[in-house]
Amino acid sequence: MAKVDPHSFYDDLEPKIKSFDLKMKIDFEKQAILSSVKLNFEREVIGKIHLDSRDLQINSVHFKDGTELNFKVYEKKPIVGNLFEIDFSKPSQSVVVDYEVKKESSALQWLKPEQTKGKVAPYLFTQCQPHHARSLIPLQDSPSVRVTYSAEISVKKELTVVMAAGSSGVREDENEKTFLFKMPQPIPPYLFAFAVGRITSSEIGPRSKVWAEPEMIEKASYEFEEIENIIKTAENLFGPYEWERYDLLVLPPSFPYGGMENPRCTFITPTIIVGDRSLVGVVAHELAHSWTGNLVTNKNYNHFWINEGFTVWAERRITEALYGVEAATMAYAQGFYALKNAMKEFGADSPYTCLVTNLEGVDPDEVFSDIPYEKGSLFLRLLEETVSRKSFDRFIRAYIEKFRFSSIGTDELVSFINEYFEGLPEKVDADKWLYKPGIPENCPKIYSSRLEYIKNLSDGFKFGTYPTKEEIGLMKPAEKLVYFQGLPKKLSEEECQFLEKNFELREMTNAEILSKWFIISATSNYKPTFKMIRNFLLEVGRMKFVKPIYKAMGTNKETRQLAKEIFEITKESLHPLTRTVVEQEISNYEKD
Ligand code: BES
Ligand code: ZN
Repeated sequence: MAKVDPHSFYDDLEPKIKSFDLKMKIDFEKQAILSSVKLNFEREVIGKIHLDSRDLQINSVHFKDGTELNFKVYEKKPIVGNLFEIDFSKPSQSVVVDYEVKKESSALQWLKPEQTKGKVAPYLFTQCQPHHARSLIPLQDSPSVRVTYSAEISVKKELTVVMAAGSSGVREDENEKTFLFKMPQPIPPYLFAFAVGRITSSEIGPRSKVWAEPEMIEKASYEFEEIENIIKTAENLFGPYEWERYDLLVLPPSFPYGGMENPRCTFITPTIIVGDRSLVGVVAHELAHSWTGNLVTNKNYNHFWINEGFTVWAERRITEALYGVEAATMAYAQGFYALKNAMKEFGADSPYTCLVTNLEGVDPDEVFSDIPYEKGSLFLRLLEETVSRKSFDRFIRAYIEKFRFSSIGTDELVSFINEYFEGLPEKVDADKWLYKPGIPENCPKIYSSRLEYIKNLSDGFKFGTYPTKEEIGLMKPAEKLVYFQGLPKKLSEEECQFLEKNFELREMTNAEILSKWFIISATSNYKPTFKMIRNFLLEVGRMKFVKPIYKAMGTNKETRQLAKEIFEITKESLHPLTRTVVEQEISNYEKD
């Protein structure tokens, strides 16, 4: 073998990086990071080594004694970035690279004070999954490589650095603070993460604190207060939590994801802070990654479902244990809707609807979808239903025990399933699930009488059957979400008014429900929501919401105009990923 990852220059015949020691000095004025990293390899490098990088300005490469080495940074290629080749003049197990992270780094969003809650200090955060770690550190940026690290990050005195690693103290001099960290557990590079800003913390459990801007800390503490209970529930299901601490960092609203499972410190969007804990499922999801994803890791993005499918399945088992079967069923129902939607968007024959994909030459960011999440979790649910819950729970623990701290592909998983339950892959037609597009016929049925009731209520809308005030009052947030998902997108003004009034959508703080409402009201050209949509899109960068709302705004002239106006205001300050997604949606307007 040589190349094992379509999105990395990593060559598995060359020595792997085993650890790195990183120093960074954050410069908010220049929006750049002056950096130096010592890369430590598992064995001596002889001759040339090939690393990943993207938009890094490499200033010098040398041994510890100062001897300079020759190197070459190749021209930037789409998706993979710049191949970075170092020529070792003599065999060595380590090398130091001095470099600068530029403003363009695809892993970073630099926020101006106005883009934060407090509006007094700038903010910076990283998002390295799937292939952005290389735009912060030159390394083998493939999830098939695992590294430990130490880091020293210097910032102006009034700022705080939060890192997805263990803290080993703070050094202070006249005008700078240096935050020290250690990550003793080996992680794939996409789990490297930090944030800088005016950030404070509050203890919420024996091994957890929440980090947020001071203005948010109280609300955030309330929303996540049950964290220890959630961790214990997960440990009961999947075995001991191996990362010591589990903290949460609440990011500014421009964070492009709902959550990111950075080790020891999940990064989370403020849009899940509703005030009623109704969206803590996202936390259950990110926490579950501590087993599925961070311990057992997909070896490359063709097998992304191994990370996300397992984690959605795990998340819903946590939901069931904490809040009951009904809550888990609602979550599956909402997911199944999202799955059908994604199937429709790609087309049911599209290879992107397979669990195992071939992403050679394809950017994982561009084909990100609900398929690996929802189809993946349903496949696991099918296995669980087939062998019985008790047996499957034993299997999951054995799976985690066997593959912990390693990276695997679908083949290794299927062999292990077949070893554990002989003949099971064939019995459930695993090949079809894994390698064929669409939803297989033996897909588990998601059913409960409450779910049927909600679905019927939702189906009735187009025939003029509206829920009563009492019925609405009895709906849980997750049920409202399922109800809204089932509604037609284009409604009359009266129908919009009914929803707005009776679901109290003007006061709605649940962003999941709100985003569904915005899609309906934009498609229906319902003007009374335009201001809300505008305010939402001026603040929120979570792609899951932003993308479908902009898409819905493409359906008629007024909303197209509104979309363009909003984008004109936000485009400079959007996260680079969100900006690309919005640009694409708006460029689609002209096509039809
Ligand atoms: N690891 C993902 C986020 C991600 C995936 C970032 C791929 C970059 C590339 C995270 O665990 C996730 O799935 N987040 C979801 C949460 C949801 C499924 C509960 C999100 O952001 O919506
Ligand atoms: Zn996930």
